[in-house]
Amino acid sequence: MQKTNIVLVGFMGTGKTAVGELLAGQLGKTLVDMDSMIAEREGKSIPRIFAEDGEPRFRALERALVQELAGRTDLVVSTGGGIVLNAANVEDFARSGLVVCLTATAETILERVGDDTNRPLLAVEDKLGKIKELLAVRQSYYDAVPCQLATDGKSPAAVAAEICALYEPADPPDQ
Ligand code: S3P
Repeated sequence: MQKTNIVLVGFMGTGKTAVGELLAGQLGKTLVDMDSMIAEREGKSIPRIFAEDGEPRFRALERALVQELAGRTDLVVSTGGGIVLNAANVEDFARSGLVVCLTATAETILERVGDDTNRPLLAVEDKLGKIKELLAVRQSYYDAVPCQLATDGKSPAAVAAEICALYEPADPPDQ
């Protein structure tokens, strides 16, 4: 299978959505934001899915959507931060695309998502502590992705430009 997809993974607040939007526009690919698609199909927000159906149900919805998207071509996929927790998700995506793990320090992540109420896992008093705790638990999963890109101090446009430089389409468009 040709690897025509670009899949952005990484912790919350590493820029997957903003970078994905830019990349899709620049490369003429179709953008899929997994959280948005799950929320749309379920008819409720991600916090409501967590609250009413539980995290295991959300992870099952993510898993099913990965299997669907990994079979498609010419996508830019912005995943949810927990996608790496199931190694099969990354393996499936890697078969049909370049998987890029965006990284950022806990402090950068807090700056970017601290005021956002759409992230149920960070709906706690001590957000920095929670970010550090989750990062520690997940670090080995993120580190397992071969292609890593640090985003601290970079604009989404700068990150998108770096990914464009990494990405070599199997069939480059005519100049
Ligand atoms: C999650 C990250 C969120 C969303 C859900 C769970 C996680 O996506 O999928 O709240 O487990 O890290 P973003 O990374 O887009 O915030």
